[in-house]
Amino acid sequence: HFMQKEIYEQPVVVAQTLTSYLRPLEEQVALPDMDFDLKAIERVAIVACGTASYVGMIGKYWFERFARVPVEVDVASEFRYREAPLRKGDLAIFISQSGETADTLAALRYAKGEGVHTLSVVNVPTSTIARESETVLQTLAGPEIGVASTKAFTCQLMVLASLAVAAGKARGELSDEDETSLVHGLVEIPRLMAAALTSEPQIEKLARDISKSKDVLYLGRGTSYPLALEGALKLKEISYIHAEGYAAGELKHGPIALIDENMPVVVIAPFDRVFEKTVSNMQEVAARGGKIILMTDAKGAA
Ligand code: M6R
Repeated sequence: HFMQKEIYEQPVVVAQTLTSYLRPLEEQVALPDMDFDLKAIERVAIVACGTASYVGMIGKYWFERFARVPVEVDVASEFRYREAPLRKGDLAIFISQSGETADTLAALRYAKGEGVHTLSVVNVPTSTIARESETVLQTLAGPEIGVASTKAFTCQLMVLASLAVAAGKARGELSDEDETSLVHGLVEIPRLMAAALTSEPQIEKLARDISKSKDVLYLGRGTSYPLALEGALKLKEISYIHAEGYAAGELKHGPIALIDENMPVVVIAPFDRVFEKTVSNMQEVAARGGKIILMTDAKGAA
């Protein structure tokens, strides 16, 4: 399947994308020259559809944390009609694998009409969105043939991460040491992805179990929340199994009612500053007999 082939291409294409926006040896970000000054940006709007909009949501966490710039994320089909007030000098970022998605293109044209700086993250450099944007940061994912986005998603994340670190640095919110440590983390990703892909036999076994379910819940906090949304989208799209993604803290505000022994709950929880909070949500799921599938790192599993 193309999708499987593209999943396995990720360590290589993610490394290629990172190489375009980082100086790995110096452990610094190295974005191409842009027609605007990242220092002067007061607000960012990120607009995209589907999987690309989840990249935007993750980008919001990074921009706000590293660069302390407020970010709004919209799905393009809403943004294009809601006449969002944008200020001259704001930055609007459009994320699209194909660069041809009609709603994203219409949103870009609206933003240009409002006089904001436009930057697109696209995989196809000759696409309409790329041609009509002031600045283009290309993902080097290569052609994505599978309808379900995989390698484009992870490459888009690399571009957004590099951009957020560059913005943090330009605005004086990140020190040289912060930059080095974040870039070091990014440079490690291709190797870690290759290691994660060796879990396929275990994942295949889990997938067989999940395939018997009617509904699946995905939970996460922080950047793992949009990842939960993406996981649920991917499961729906590929297996036709109903799935929902939730911010783990929202569990008690409704969805907990659905949990019983027939409901697999995929919890995405790396060992980060919200890990303990997510563990307490996991305990609520366990108390109702839900089947928990925890995706975590070595520290979280310990
Ligand atoms: O080409 P685009 O990135 O603009 O496409 C946007 C969405 O249609 C796309 O991300 C879609 O949600 C994924 N292919 C689903 O896996």
